[in-house]
Amino acid sequence: MIIAVDGPTASGKGTIARALAAHYGLPYLDTGLLYRAVGRQVFLDGGNPDDGGDALAATSFPDGLLLDPHLRSEETGGLASRVSIHPSVRQALFARQRTFATQAGGAVLDGRDIGTVIAPDADVKIFVTAAIETRARRRWSEMRERGADVTLNEIAADIRARDERDAARTDAPLRVAEGAFVIDNSAMTREQALAAAVEAVEAAR
Ligand code: C5P
Repeated sequence: MIIAVDGPTASGKGTIARALAAHYGLPYLDTGLLYRAVGRQVFLDGGNPDDGGDALAATSFPDGLLLDPHLRSEETGGLASRVSIHPSVRQALFARQRTFATQAGGAVLDGRDIGTVIAPDADVKIFVTAAIETRARRRWSEMRERGADVTLNEIAADIRARDERDAARTDAPLRVAEGAFVIDNSAMTREQALAAAVEAVEAAR
């Protein structure tokens, strides 16, 4: 069973995807981490994330980079969203994601284009979203817990910029895949959102 989970930044898609993977005993891939590694590698190389050549070169990042704690930062998230615009970068990361998705026994993948591009044949497609205020507030408290010195307005502006970039790009823009089950968790607890996701999987299989 392939489960595709897509959605915008800080929508809670990672939490839902991880919980589904644990619930169904499936391997899980956070595809955003691949784009983050490319963004981080461009930075380490002193390259320009908006330059397609520099970004493509960075797709040969070493596997160890996936464990770098810097990958989770807002800065790296911004770099990831810039390198992910280049079709050559998306193409270079395609095989890795596709192989993971189609492994024996199935998998759960989360990202922006899993249900539309990477696994349009997924058994279950879930699109997770929430109001921008909700997403910004969640990300803000998460960052403050980690001791980051940021304002809610800064986070909201950052999220808005990433949403716009992800939705406006011509190659694999963020959109709801055909047949996807949409979970807007703005007014839901984590448990309610998880229950809705399990319900979607059960309805589809
Ligand atoms: O999900 P996450 O915030 O880690 O993703 C970082 C960035 O990587 C996103 O803003 C998006 O631009 C890009 N991305 C993508 N396609 C994916 C996953 C992430 O373009 N499947």
